Amino acid sequence: MKILGINGSPRGAKSTTMKLVEAVLEGAKEAGAETKLIDLCSLKIDYCDACGVCYKKGRCVHQDDFGTVYDEIMASDGLVLGSPVYFGSVTAQMKTMIDRMSDAIHCQLLLGKYACSVSTAGSQGHQEVEDYINRIMVAMGANAAGSAGADMAVPKSMEEAMEKAFKLGQTLVADIENKTVYVEQEEIHKMMRDRFGKIITANKDEWTHEYEHWTKMGWL
Ligand SMILES: Cc1cc2nc3c(=O)[nH]c(=O)nc-3n(C[C@H](O)[C@H](O)[C@H](O)COP(=O)(O)O)c2cc1C
Repeated sequence: MKILGINGSPRGAKSTTMKLVEAVLEGAKEAGAETKLIDLCSLKIDYCDACGVCYKKGRCVHQDDFGTVYDEIMASDGLVLGSPVYFGSVTAQMKTMIDRMSDAIHCQLLLGKYACSVSTAGSQGHQEVEDYINRIMVAMGANAAGSAGADMAVPKSMEEAMEKAFKLGQTLVADIENKTVYVEQEEIHKMMRDRFGKIITANKDEWTHEYEHWTKMGWL
């Protein structure tokens, strides 16, 4: 079982979010998983420029580090995504990575995977960022196992979040082993399937790769 951690803070080893991502990975490792950590901000990832080539061909035109990150995501059973709060949202680097995954939402490429999120804030908003990341993961087909976060202005918040993050890593592994079903997320998966089924069918002459994927999956 492979669990991949991706940290979207530019502060490298000084990042508090990185510490939470690592705590999730430690929990997962203790529960028997193989883990890997990607420091997103050390990589070169271009913006999505909405060319639509991934819809047509199933590959991106950009020759940058995203390809390796995507391969790692697709090879993993579980994901932990971390971002500090920047103006109430994820960092630009994390958003840039998410934007490069349009075909993952269209083709529900994270189906069967489990994900969780972590965040830290200077004073407020970590829960919103955790929820945002998990919502995006579920929209791409994954099951969200939970989140952990800290408000750095509150004493002991980080300490508590570290404990929660470690347990979250263990939960992630247990969910993968047990194929845990989150009933309310199943509803969202069904809704996304209905939504994108209509869009893919309407664009079938243009989005040939995605139409083929949907046909192969027997979803149309
Ligand atoms: C550009 C920028 C925007 C930020 N925006 C917020 C914010 O909206 N709310 C907040 O509570 N903290 C904000 N912060 C503080 C960070 O969220 C906080 O320091 C966080 O713990 C940093 O995480 P890291 O150590 O993983 O980089 C911001 C920091 C920066 C550099």
